[in-house]
Order: sequence, then C-alpha cells, then structure tokens
Amino acid sequence: MAKKTKGTGKGTGKGASKGASKGARGNEWADHLTQRAKAENYPARSVYKLEEIQKKFKVILPKSHVLDLGCAPGSWLLYAAKQTGSRGRVFGIDLKQIEIKLPDNVIAIQDNILALENEDFLEKGFGAVLSDMAPATTGRKDVDAFRSFELCSMALDTAKKFGAPNSNFVCKIFQGNEFKKFEQEVKLVFRECKTFKPESCRKQSKEIYIIAKGKK
Ligand SMILES: C[S@@+](CC[C@H](N)C(=O)[O-])C[C@H]1O[C@@H](n2cnc3c(N)ncnc32)[C@H](O)[C@@H]1O
Repeated sequence: MAKKTKGTGKGTGKGASKGASKGARGNEWADHLTQRAKAENYPARSVYKLEEIQKKFKVILPKSHVLDLGCAPGSWLLYAAKQTGSRGRVFGIDLKQIEIKLPDNVIAIQDNILALENEDFLEKGFGAVLSDMAPATTGRKDVDAFRSFELCSMALDTAKKFGAPNSNFVCKIFQGNEFKKFEQEVKLVFRECKTFKPESCRKQSKEIYIIAKGKK
C-alpha cells in the first residue's frame, strides 16, 4: 500500500560523501556540489539542477501547487517549497520513503508511478509537474534509455491528467532512440518545449531535461 510521509526528521546529508573524487575534474565538481548541498541542508546535489531550471525558465510560481515525481531523497521538494512559499503546496511521490523532515506545506507518499495505488492523493490543477525520475540503471544504454522513456511517458500522462491549463512540465530523460518521439509527444500537450542540460549535470551523463510551458 502507498505510505504517506511527512518526513521522519532524521536530518539531511544522507549519501553526502558518495561523490568522493577520484581526481577527475568532473568528480571534483560533483564533490563540490555535494558538499555545497550538505552545507545548505539539501539531501542531494540534484537540487542545483532544479535551481538552474527555475532561474532560467521560471517553471514554479509563488503560491502554486507542485507535483514532484521521483522526489526522494527530497532536495527538489525542499527547493520547490521555497519557490511556492508557505501559501503554495508541494506533493511528492517516490518508490523510496522520504527520510528528511519536510516543511508543513509538503507531503510525500511512497508509491510506484507506474502502478499508482493512491490516485486520491493527487488533486487536479497542479501549476507544475516535475519529474526527476530515473530507472535503476543496468549499464546497457539502450535498456536504460527505454526505461527512462517509460517513466517519462507516465510523467507526461500525469501532467496531462493533473496539470492545470497553462501549467508547466519538467522531465528528465536519458537520451536514446525514444527521445525525439517523447519530445514530439510533449509538444502536442504544451505550447513551448525546450531541452536543457544544467551545468550541474555530470558532463558524461546522457540525462537531459525537457522544459515545457503552457499546457494547452
Ligand atoms: C535522481 S532521484 C531524484 C532526486 C530528487 N529530485 C531530489 O532532488 O532529491 C530519482 C528517483 O526516481 C525514483 N523513481 C524511479 N522509478 C520510479 C517509479 N516508478 N515511481 C516512483 N519513483 C521512481 C527513484 O526511487 C529515485 O529516488
């Protein structure tokens, strides 16, 4: 059954030392971001990807309601809540439980977006649907890209169903054979659609973000 969590207050910094540098410049940069995230009380450096997206595209509006798919360990939840302010609300879903303490206007549930058990949790009319979901990687780039595409397709369906008119959509996808197809599908639903690779992404990573604005 889907479990609802408002955080256990266990604190942040889980996995903060994982990016330990092997000396390569990319790893040093990742390590720097991990340290910065820890200092700023975010559980993961992925927060800086959303920060870059928000600064450039203004996808989250003050007082709006945001849905964050693949929200664990919780960095995007915290950042999105700062952007909406206390009069906005942020909802998150992840396979994993959130272990950090969340602000009062944030709720997260543990569930599988591919087989959602608790749709009642979702209201209609989100101002932004965000997906930073990533499949467990196999090392086979074609398989990983296809699994990422499946998650993205479900995220887009969710945005279609629960996004408000004129709402925004952010979706991480691993570039592969299905990328163009997914981009075309997004363009059918949103008036503007761009791709963006944040500086804070690992250079060698195949991940890229689709930023779509203005749900038709
Ligand atoms: C890169 S992490 C997200 C990091 C998050 N944005 C943050 O800043 O804390 C990707 C997440 O996608 C979640 N995920 C993958 N498949 C999922 C699914 N089918 N349903 C829900 N969450 C999923 C994983 O459990 C993982 O926590």
